[in-house]
Amino acid sequence: MKKNALIWDIPTRLFHWLLVGSIVAQYATVNWLDNAVQWHFYVGYFTLFLVVFRLFWGVVGTRYAKFTQFVKGPKLVVNYLKSLFDKHATPTAGHNPLGGWFVIVMLILVAIQAISGLFMTDDIFLDGPYRALATEEVLSVMSSLHHLAFDALLYVIVLHIGAVIFYTAFKKQKLAPAMVHGKKEVFHNEVDGKHISIEHSKLVRALIVALIAAFVVYLVIEVYPPAPQVDDFYY
Ligand code: HEM
Ligand code: HEM
Repeated sequence: MKKNALIWDIPTRLFHWLLVGSIVAQYATVNWLDNAVQWHFYVGYFTLFLVVFRLFWGVVGTRYAKFTQFVKGPKLVVNYLKSLFDKHATPTAGHNPLGGWFVIVMLILVAIQAISGLFMTDDIFLDGPYRALATEEVLSVMSSLHHLAFDALLYVIVLHIGAVIFYTAFKKQKLAPAMVHGKKEVFHNEVDGKHISIEHSKLVRALIVALIAAFVVYLVIEVYPPAPQVDDFYY
């Protein structure tokens, strides 16, 4: 008989849907909305916070949120690939060995996007906080990264959503609802004597981690960069 097991803690789920919202907002503030670059900066800082939070949560979070739980070696990935089109293969409780690497790639691309953004300019009024610190060569690399990483991110997101649709339609695994309510259907309560389900979301710990992540981002965007120069233009 199938049972429901809690797999995704609340912080991971919140992280996921806030990240989705942030990426859409980042695209909208430079492509669809006029005069919204200031908002692009704010949402960019928030996205940086999300990534820093997820890095820490990947170390001290609940079982299936931890990197050590879902980042697997090539052997396991290849074995998993062999069963990819097997409808009856036992579903993994957390990220599957291939999906785990997708998560890492997405996090790296979002991190590149947010960090390179700190060096960007809108060529009118707004400069990212690290623009004044960098040489022309660094600025040109950062600008290329900011454009290229987003294109790469779009391809990876399309593959990611495609994979969720494939698992839903072909393998009959309801992955997307699990990212909403946290629960997945499992056949057994235990594997190797361990409960499959996590006990709870460790919310107090998540709050402390979020405060630390916010402090790190505050240091990065407010404390470390030089104060903006007031241009002659304003006198
Ligand atoms: C901007 C678009 C998106 C981005 C950047 C994104 C990114 C991510 C990331 C980073 C994770 C890993 C979560 C973690 O462990 O922290 C993840 C997992 C997941 N995402 Fe998304 N996502 C996007 C859109 C979507 C959409 C639209 C859906 C639903 C249709 C979705 C469904 C899922 C599911 C089900 C998982 C868990 C997969 C599993 O069971 O292993 N994502 N996503
Ligand atoms: C993960 C976070 C971010 C995402 C997804 C993102 C995405 C984008 C995209 C799609 C563009 C348009 C690129 C093009 O035209 O090809 C863009 C441009 C830009 N981004 Fe970001 N960005 C992020 C973070 C940041 C941050 C943190 C800053 C600054 C602090 C920033 C500053 C800019 C600027 C100044 C532009 C050029 C706007 C213009 O052409 O007027 N971005 N970004």
